[in-house]
Amino acid sequence: MKAPFIPENAPYSDTQRAWLGGFFAGMHSHMLQSAGSVDQSNARTLHILYGSQTGNSESLSHDVANSAKSHGLLPMVKSMDEVDVAQLAKMDYLLIITSTYGEGAMPDNAEMLWEAANSDAAPRLENVNYSVLALGDTSYDLFCQAGIDWDQRLEALGAKRIFDRVDCDVDFEAAAEEWISEVVPLMAEGASTVAVVDTAPQASKSAYNRKNPFPAKMSVNRIVTALDSSKETRHYEISISGSDLSYEAGDALCVIPSNCPELVANIIKALGCTGSEQEPVAGELISLSDALQSHFEIKLPSKELVEEIAKRSGDQELNNILSSGDKDQLSNYLWGRDTLDLFLQFPNAEFSAAEFIALLKPLQHRAYSISSSGKAHPDTVHLTVASVRYDAHGRNHKGVCSTYLADLVGEETDVRVFFTPNNNFRVPNDDSLPMIMVGPGTGIAPFRAFLQEREFRKANGKNWLFFGDRNASTDFIYREEIEAMQSSGLLTRLDLAFSRDQEEKIYVQDRMKQSGAELWAWLEQGGYFFVCGDAYRMAKDVDKALHEVIQQHGNKTLLEAVDYVNQLKKDKRYVRDVY
Ligand SMILES: Cc1cc2nc3c(=O)[nH]c(=O)nc-3n(C[C@H](O)[C@H](O)[C@H](O)COP(=O)(O)OP(=O)(O)OC[C@H]3O[C@@H](n4cnc5c(N)ncnc54)[C@H](O)[C@@H]3O)c2cc1C
Ligand SMILES: NC(=O)c1ccc[n+]([C@@H]2O[C@H](COP(=O)([O-])OP(=O)(O)OC[C@H]3O[C@@H](n4cnc5c(N)ncnc54)[C@H](OP(=O)(O)O)[C@@H]3O)[C@@H](O)[C@H]2O)c1
Ligand SMILES: Cc1cc2nc3c(=O)[nH]c(=O)nc-3n(C[C@H](O)[C@H](O)[C@H](O)COP(=O)(O)O)c2cc1C
Repeated sequence: MKAPFIPENAPYSDTQRAWLGGFFAGMHSHMLQSAGSVDQSNARTLHILYGSQTGNSESLSHDVANSAKSHGLLPMVKSMDEVDVAQLAKMDYLLIITSTYGEGAMPDNAEMLWEAANSDAAPRLENVNYSVLALGDTSYDLFCQAGIDWDQRLEALGAKRIFDRVDCDVDFEAAAEEWISEVVPLMAEGASTVAVVDTAPQASKSAYNRKNPFPAKMSVNRIVTALDSSKETRHYEISISGSDLSYEAGDALCVIPSNCPELVANIIKALGCTGSEQEPVAGELISLSDALQSHFEIKLPSKELVEEIAKRSGDQELNNILSSGDKDQLSNYLWGRDTLDLFLQFPNAEFSAAEFIALLKPLQHRAYSISSSGKAHPDTVHLTVASVRYDAHGRNHKGVCSTYLADLVGEETDVRVFFTPNNNFRVPNDDSLPMIMVGPGTGIAPFRAFLQEREFRKANGKNWLFFGDRNASTDFIYREEIEAMQSSGLLTRLDLAFSRDQEEKIYVQDRMKQSGAELWAWLEQGGYFFVCGDAYRMAKDVDKALHEVIQQHGNKTLLEAVDYVNQLKKDKRYVRDVY
């Protein structure tokens, strides 16, 4: 449902206007979601804006809203792409919760507001009282950069920081909870009237989440690339039967892996330990072997571990790189090197079991875009996963989670999973609108789900898939299904780009440009443009190609093409699921 226009001269206070706007924005702006009836008269509105790619910040925004209600505030939760910078200036009480993506970049839904707020034309924000909660991951160079940028920019525009920014690492729950418990009472301080909120039941959250994953059974584990392919991609089916869980096409399934037993054994050996040493983990004493198997990231070395190895080994090259502060040089050095490589390379850097554990990060789940429609397959979740396997520094290396799924999960083993919704990345509600889907490699996953969904809904809108990978003969995954969708008319257009079948690389963006006139026509017909897959190279080049197509075939200047693309983003007709 779209928010109705509320005329400027309508008899509402700013608070009421905001409340009404938020109320009608319904599904999109989740103001007081399921709060029951509210007496909104003159109560203080707390604006909660989130920038989120995979739902963590969004979900925390709703936790803040619940806390705000209990403090007599009127919370208004919005995604950053639902407000403009002029509205920002009117938000007297503002909390920003944002993750960081790409390399220190904003999540997609925060990008436009950030550009406007960061421009010379941005309004002053003297009335705004704010605080920022930043989500990130310390394994990235630019930790929590988006939150840092917002915090600094709001201050520069005159806004008053009423509580210091909190930067959260991957285990964000405790830090976020503390920030909420401190910041919300401050936001309520001095408010003369409180909102009266009844105790109508809240929208129920799933019983299963990151802290309480569902133990699922895997029913299918099938290689979908040819055996002589240069890569290995697998199709999995995971049963959620009996869980009460459901999902939408576009959502991701998160998998909590355990580490490869061989890697665990080799690290224990390199440490000079037996594995039976008892170590305290999360308030319990467990064996070193169990700790390394299930609790800690032991493949990718943490920054702290690398620094300590450099110190204890005294290695000049590594110490020089670290002291230079050159992050590119460090990531080149670490590319393909895991913790065991470093131990084997620097045997004189010795650690006790406890010292080693203290330098590790907790083992994290990995997200996978679901490749089935929950309507067509309510009891199973399909995944399409590239197994990370490579040789480097004289050893075979395996990605933790992709090879856990491939090699370690058997019929008898449970896979611990939970869902993350991706509310922006959805099959259009209007079944007649065209969908353009760009998904090379494993990027095809959500589009298989989208096409199943459209088939299930008997949607009559046109569907165009851009797919590719290295070689057609070995890497054309789901080929039979895709060709059947073409024959049935479900797939209106299919453009393929197999990069290594000829001397010159051909990529999906080349195919987009070759069919630019038709692509432009589909956009003008109200088409949605979806991108999934590699964030660092493909998604950037596809974005550039999209601008070029719009410029050339829409007869626009570059600035006009940028505006056109921004409008697509605002309308949620250009959305990405990239990693
Ligand atoms: C929202 C989202 C959706 C996703 N959907 C999918 C999906 O549908 N399908 C899918 O396959 N993945 C998907 N991913 C990626 C997935 O989450 C994992 O990142 C991926 O499976 C690798 O995890 P891993 O544990 O196997 O590898 P890790 O143990 O995390 O190791 C990966 C690391 O190994 C190193 N490495 C990898 N290849 C090489 C190489 N050739 N040479 C040297 N070093 C190398 C790099 O340091 C790399 O960062 C998605 C990610 C996100 C965030
Ligand atoms: N960081 C890395 O170096 C690296 C390498 C491989 C995969 N990955 C990651 O591994 C995951 C799974 O990969 P995947 O199986 O989905 O396949 P993928 O590695 O994304 O490759 C799929 C196809 O995209 C092509 N491609 C490469 N660069 C491109 C670009 N700039 N624009 C458009 N297409 C491009 C590849 O061609 P070519 O390979 O022939 O160039 C291949 O044909 C992703 O997360 C990906 O980011 C990372
Ligand atoms: C592709 C990708 C890139 C990321 N880049 C960064 C980064 O540059 N800096 C950082 O601190 N965190 C980074 N993160 C971590 C996320 O910010 C973190 O997982 C956060 O909890 C996600 O919250 P969200 O679900 O609200 O988007 C990245 C995560 C992914 C998957």
